[in-house]
Amino acid sequence: MSIPVVTVGRAAGDCVTGLEQLRGPVTVVRRCEEFTEMVAACQTGIARAALIAFEAGEITSTLVERLRAADVAVVALTDDNEARERLRALEVRYVPTTVEPAVLAGEVTAAVADLERQQSGGSPGHAFGDTSHSLDPRVPSPSDDNELPGNGKVLVIWGPTGAPGRTTVSVNLAAELAAGGSKVLLMDADTYGASVAAFLGLLDESAGIVHACRLADQGILDAPTLERTCIEVTFDGLPLYVLTGVTRADRWAELRPSALTRLLALARSVFDTVVVDCAFGLEADEELSFDTMAPRRNGATLRCLELAEQIIAVGSADSIGVPRLVRALAELQDAVPTASPRVVLNKVRAASVGRSPERQLREAWERFGPPVPISAFVPADFDSADAALLRGAALRETAPASPLRQAIAALADAPVEQRRRSSAGPSHSEMKFSDNGVRLSQ
Ligand SMILES: Nc1ncnc2c1ncn2[C@@H]1O[C@H](COP(=O)(O)OP(=O)(O)OP(=O)(O)O)[C@@H](O)[C@H]1O
Ligand SMILES: [Mg+2]
Repeated sequence: MSIPVVTVGRAAGDCVTGLEQLRGPVTVVRRCEEFTEMVAACQTGIARAALIAFEAGEITSTLVERLRAADVAVVALTDDNEARERLRALEVRYVPTTVEPAVLAGEVTAAVADLERQQSGGSPGHAFGDTSHSLDPRVPSPSDDNELPGNGKVLVIWGPTGAPGRTTVSVNLAAELAAGGSKVLLMDADTYGASVAAFLGLLDESAGIVHACRLADQGILDAPTLERTCIEVTFDGLPLYVLTGVTRADRWAELRPSALTRLLALARSVFDTVVVDCAFGLEADEELSFDTMAPRRNGATLRCLELAEQIIAVGSADSIGVPRLVRALAELQDAVPTASPRVVLNKVRAASVGRSPERQLREAWERFGPPVPISAFVPADFDSADAALLRGAALRETAPASPLRQAIAALADAPVEQRRRSSAGPSHSEMKFSDNGVRLSQ
């Protein structure tokens, strides 16, 4: 069967006559003037391949991923050496503009076959975090985990809304790991309220993560550039590399899942550990907007969670925070079934739970919580937390002996939890906090 193809760009349009004269393997179904027209045409399902003249560098990993999500393979036409390098990095086939029609048709056929192979293999580029998920109901199997290259570990700190302490844990855990001699990248991927820069006292408006994502999207991010994009903060004479986040909430769309995948893949090969501070939300907003190709605000969070070797789920140990965490863990199970988080209850204090708060919380969790156990308790320690924030420093610098610092430092040594959850936990009952301790309410 002939492969339907759309073209965009003058050089691609010039190939149409030659392809038509072949009367065989490919059929040009639309010649588009602009990229937006081409993407829209692909979304209607009329094409299996897009022939793109690489003119102004519009080919990015985001575009390629979008087209692949619509089952459209990409072949680029270019005579430019730099462009070829980028296309190689993006794993896009390319040919010179003077290509023979038969060779071009062969490349288009091969690109379509590549895409079919990738789709049947469940590549990490087509997963929960991107727009394609709603179009693609396949659920990645657990063996799809850890598909990124490199030996580094991606450790994602996540948790429900309500400021349970995700950034506090991220920053201090990263500082402990860096001071311990690991090469660590701390990445602020929170698309709602980035605050890593503020925690570390960095005067940074430039959002290093946006810059890194932009380069990754264009296929031109390499290890030296990534390191240069980071701000270095020193702990005990050892560097912690920091990619600051988007402090202006309206810039969230600049953290595209496809670019984050590339960024994390590279980061894993450059750093021993990548600590990612991400936002809370997991819901798929395109289901509300009906625009399956629209960027997703939670796409960055979902993509980080999918690609994590380890997830630490942080919740506040109080009557609001614990039920929120229980619900959020159930949502995580639905959104990223392969996730196996470690649960950390933060801000643990008798005033919010009652006497022996850890025992009470553990007992209540074992009876009513999800099957995933509580891995650690981090005490409420407002003086130390406030002092560190005020100084824009890590707890190991401002309050090294504090219980808060000790508890977070202990997380750095904890083994990776490999338990998989079998069910989402209680859905109709919730934990209730009262003077009599923690109970279940129906
Ligand atoms: N164990 C703790 N004891 C006392 N205060 C804490 C503790 N952990 C965090 N805090 C404080 O709680 C506030 C929120 O913490 P943090 O910013 O880390 O939460 P978050 O989950 O990242 O919130 P956001 O939703 O804004 O990203 C901060 O003022 C922080 O200093
Ligand atoms: Mg935060």
